[in-house]
Amino acid sequence: MTKIRQVFLGTSLLFGIAFAFQVLAQEPAQPGERVLPDPNDPTAYTEKGADTCLKCHDEESEFPVFNIFKTRHAVRGDARTPFAKLQCETCHGPGGLDATATQAMRERGGHTAKVRKGEPRPPMLNFGAKSKDPVATQNKMCLQCHERQNRMDWQGSTHANNEVSCASCHSVHVPRDPVLTAAGQPDRCYACHLRQRADFHKPSVHPVRFGVMQCSECHSVHGSSTASLLKKPTLNQTCFQCHADKRGPFLWEHAPVAEDCSVCHLPHGSINPSLLVKRPPLLCQQCHSPAGHPSVSYTSAGLPGGTPSAYLLAGGCTNCHSQVHGSNHPSGVKLMR
Ligand code: HEC
Ligand code: HEC
Ligand code: HEC
Ligand code: HEC
Ligand code: HEC
Ligand code: HEC
Ligand code: HEC
Ligand code: HEC
Ligand code: HEC
Ligand code: HEC
Repeated sequence: MTKIRQVFLGTSLLFGIAFAFQVLAQEPAQPGERVLPDPNDPTAYTEKGADTCLKCHDEESEFPVFNIFKTRHAVRGDARTPFAKLQCETCHGPGGLDATATQAMRERGGHTAKVRKGEPRPPMLNFGAKSKDPVATQNKMCLQCHERQNRMDWQGSTHANNEVSCASCHSVHVPRDPVLTAAGQPDRCYACHLRQRADFHKPSVHPVRFGVMQCSECHSVHGSSTASLLKKPTLNQTCFQCHADKRGPFLWEHAPVAEDCSVCHLPHGSINPSLLVKRPPLLCQQCHSPAGHPSVSYTSAGLPGGTPSAYLLAGGCTNCHSQVHGSNHPSGVKLMR
């Protein structure tokens, strides 16, 4: 612990940095929202930054904070990181005083001061489930640095509109954020998406459960202009990322394939083989009249209970029409070769 502390000992804060808090401070506050002071206000932020916080928050604390020094947020010499700015307070807001502080708090000197027994400690801005601050305020703290690139579509996205905080997916006080790993990501999502967890445990699935694939290979979780937060402009294009052979062009196309894979396939998991929404023949007979190819086991005389129709051998239309996604064979018009 002392080692890390030494690193920050004496790194007095640079009050001169004009910083994005100014932008934050200017926006009109919602009820219950903190008004964050100017980063140049010497009464608001602690003078010694992280060193002050680490006096009380160390490895023995209920919530060990040190691991953050093993993350990209604390890469030394990277001027873009929180530790090159107001350190812990870049994310957690001022440890001294902010505009929500009452007169009594002011007299006590804010979160970092000693409090008398039984007296509440003025709270810091916190994140995730335990936070009392509005989600929008929490997310603003992260967006001051992460608004561009993949968060371009965040505002107005499904997760933003449903008040999902950055911290409900991301952990920043751990060496490796689980949501950024194939093994750790699904559990983060399943915390809220229970139905999808059930889907991914069905017999036919995309191999997310085995750590081979991630939700984020198909979804842009920070926002997307496509329905269901898909990564590509259409559902089919999302599939073609990995199933390029189904894109064609085919000499003999099968109309529904070019239109929408989800006519026949579920994206996550299915009780039917090959992620199918239904099994053939019913799958096919949603569109194709059973008139030519009967759908029940009639005998050649047309009576039930006799020799099954050849068209229903093993219940499969694909036994004969094997090129259900399209054919490039000169005589593949019936999708049989
Ligand atoms: C990049 C932004 C960021 C920085 C920098 C940061 N934190 Fe945090 N902190 C968070 C988030 C987000 C959480 C919520 C838990 C999580 O995501 O790991 C949190 C949680 C905490 C908690 C736990 C609160 C609780 O609910 O029990 C404490 C204490 C804390 N941080 C202290 C610190 C200290 C001390 C520093 C500086 C050494 C620091 N933090 C730096 C973002 C940050
Ligand atoms: C004098 C000791 C002390 C100092 C200094 C201190 N904290 Fe705390 N902090 C606490 C205690 C104790 C709690 C537990 C909550 C409580 O008792 O109200 C806490 C809670 C927190 C929480 C959880 C949210 C809350 O307010 O309950 C965060 C986040 C936090 N501290 C961050 C910081 C940061 C960042 C700094 C440095 C600017 C800091 N603390 C400095 C004692 C301290
Ligand atoms: C002061 C600016 C700043 C703030 C505030 C900030 N970050 Fe970062 N963050 C960075 C920088 C810089 C990086 C490293 C980017 C890189 O290396 O390309 C980073 C990296 C990340 C990464 C990628 C980590 C990895 O291992 O690849 C995540 C996730 C992240 N931040 C989430 C958050 C969240 C959540 C918050 C709010 C609690 C937050 N950040 C607040 C500057 C910031
Ligand atoms: C629904 C879960 C979820 C939420 C909410 C979320 N993220 Fe992410 N984030 C992810 C996943 C998954 C990845 C890795 C894959 C990717 O980039 O799409 C990621 C990657 C990142 C990265 C590193 C790679 C990159 O895209 O630059 C940063 C930084 C980041 N998120 C910041 C944020 C911020 C800031 C917020 C809040 C405004 C946020 N995230 C909200 C799940 C989430
Ligand atoms: C804190 C809860 C929470 C977490 C964690 C979370 N989500 Fe969501 N997500 C929601 C809510 C709420 C909605 C909107 C209502 C709904 O569709 O269920 C949503 C919607 C979605 C949608 C559908 C969007 C649409 O337009 O229909 C997708 C896709 C999605 N989330 C993917 C993910 C992925 C992938 C992860 C993990 C990286 C994740 N979510 C983590 C709460 C969460
Ligand atoms: C192979 C690509 C793919 C993967 C991997 C994937 N999804 Fe999806 N997801 C989709 C598609 C496509 C849709 C849209 C379905 C539709 O509109 O018919 C969708 C829809 C959703 C929805 C909206 C509701 C619904 O079920 O239609 C949620 C929520 C969701 N996915 C969450 C997740 C989560 C969580 C994971 C990871 C555990 C995940 N997805 C992995 C492709 C994928
Ligand atoms: C990120 C790559 C990726 C994307 C995107 C993707 N898939 Fe897959 N798909 C896979 C992998 C990997 C498998 C498993 C292959 C195996 O087990 O041999 C698979 C298997 C399948 C299977 C066969 C499942 C089984 O049980 O045999 C179907 C059907 C399928 N995908 C359809 C789709 C559809 C539809 C989409 C678009 C919504 C899609 N895939 C998007 C990678 C992807
Ligand atoms: C008309 C229904 C239908 C549509 C639409 C459809 N598929 Fe299929 N797909 C099937 C059937 C049926 C099977 C099983 C084939 C078998 O049993 O031989 C299958 C199997 C698969 C497989 C696993 C076996 C293989 O051929 O690799 C993948 C991957 C696949 N489909 C991807 C896609 C993609 C991607 C799309 C959209 C471009 C799509 N499918 C559209 C009916 C369809
Ligand atoms: C969503 C509706 C839909 C579904 C489901 C569907 N098809 Fe088709 N199929 C079509 C359409 C539309 C055509 C083009 C019709 C035409 O050209 O007369 C077609 C054409 C065909 C053809 C070529 C017909 C010809 O006269 O050239 C065959 C064979 C075929 N489908 C077999 C299947 C099989 C086998 C399945 C099940 C795995 C299936 N279809 C599922 C809509 C569908
Ligand atoms: C035993 C092989 C076989 C099976 C099984 C089979 N078909 Fe066919 N199907 C054919 C042949 C051969 C043709 C071409 C008939 C012709 O040219 O007169 C055909 C033609 C078609 C056509 C084109 C329309 C037409 O009458 O020419 C459609 C659509 C079709 N089948 C759908 C299906 C569906 C749906 C199933 C499952 C219920 C199915 N087939 C099962 C052999 C089969």
